[in-house]
Amino acid sequence: MKQPQNEHPQQAQTTYKNATKGYLIAFEGGETTGKTTQARLLAERIGARLSFEPGATELGHIIRSLVLDPQGPNPNPRAEALLLAADRAQHVSEIIRPTLETGTHVVTDRYIGSSLAYQGIARGLGTDEVLALSQFATQNLACDLTVLLEVDHQTARSRQAEPNDRIEAEMTKFHRRVLEGYQALATQDPKHWVIVNGNGSVTEVAATIYAAVQKRLDV
Ligand code: TMP
Repeated sequence: MKQPQNEHPQQAQTTYKNATKGYLIAFEGGETTGKTTQARLLAERIGARLSFEPGATELGHIIRSLVLDPQGPNPNPRAEALLLAADRAQHVSEIIRPTLETGTHVVTDRYIGSSLAYQGIARGLGTDEVLALSQFATQNLACDLTVLLEVDHQTARSRQAEPNDRIEAEMTKFHRRVLEGYQALATQDPKHWVIVNGNGSVTEVAATIYAAVQKRLDV
């Protein structure tokens, strides 16, 4: 398995909790893990603002189509990483930081973990450089907790719809590298990542996630 270059990539980030009032919680995982549904359910349960990447801001919406439109020009991996970092910069300055500063938690469907797994590991750009790019983009705003949802191969296949964006349409090999990358990131930084088994019913998984979050954060 390909290992991230930085042994503790998320630990290299700063500002866990101390600079803001609300918590920032991210959901990460492959395309068929149910993370979007689970992010929404957790946000409702803890009264958090729900957001997502890429595309939550007006500029981000345009960036999302530049990055993911299967009909659009194919960005090279570095261009892709930069576009996603630009989306994140706008997301943090327009939505995440102002919300946290009012004391409201933010739950985001994807954050820095996505760039580390997809661009840093699966595309091979390296987690050190990709992390540095996200640190620049976010002015070092790290997640308080990242929830990695994992489902077994059979469940993932049964949930697989037709690919609906350029990255989704790429080969399963790439996807395997993403999932292995996520595992490595979560395993190496257990203080800031929690791995949740997403194989159960939506309600069961939501309860597991809520319990895991409550255990780590005062929500
Ligand atoms: P989604 O919004 O349906 O989860 O799709 C987002 C796609 O963008 C997904 O294929 C993962 C990809 N992505 C990255 O490659 N890097 C990133 O940093 C982010 C936020 C998303």
